Amino acid sequence: IERTLSIIKPDATKRNLTGKINAKFEDAGLRIIAQKRIQLTKEQAGAFYAVHKERPFFDELTTFMASEPVVVQVLEGESAIAKNREVMGATNPADAAPGTVRAEFAESVGENSVHGSDAPETAAVEIAFFFSSLELVG
Ligand code: GTP
Ligand code: MG
Repeated sequence: IERTLSIIKPDATKRNLTGKINAKFEDAGLRIIAQKRIQLTKEQAGAFYAVHKERPFFDELTTFMASEPVVVQVLEGESAIAKNREVMGATNPADAAPGTVRAEFAESVGENSVHGSDAPETAAVEIAFFFSSLELVG
């Protein structure tokens, strides 16, 4: 059984899509074992996305992530990392498969509604960034 860190991004929380996105996760067999709505500062968003620090879109990305509240959550299930990324769809909504979160809800490659960890190592680091072990209730 695997865990992954998911974020419902500002473009989605702003449009009241938290429930619809969570329904897609749950329908895919992912269990939401921790969840909270928080307002990130730009500095906190930069710390979370530190791997992208040198990318040209870093400033746009961190400004966006601090623009409105986000919902951070831990999803648990069989192959949770891959399953979550399947439900999310491709980074660019134009390339996202029909029925995925990004195909249905994302507005652009930047404002693409959700984040999901991409490997077990990053999942562990990203979960610890937002949650203590006491907050994970599997
Ligand atoms: P995450 O689950 O959010 O990590 O998405 P990803 O793994 O599909 O994409 P990646 O890690 O390559 O990029 C991280 C995030 O940076 C994306 O989800 C986008 O929000 C943002 N991003 C990526 N490429 C661009 C871009 O060309 N322009 C802008 N503005 N943002 C981008
Ligand atoms: Mg990524």
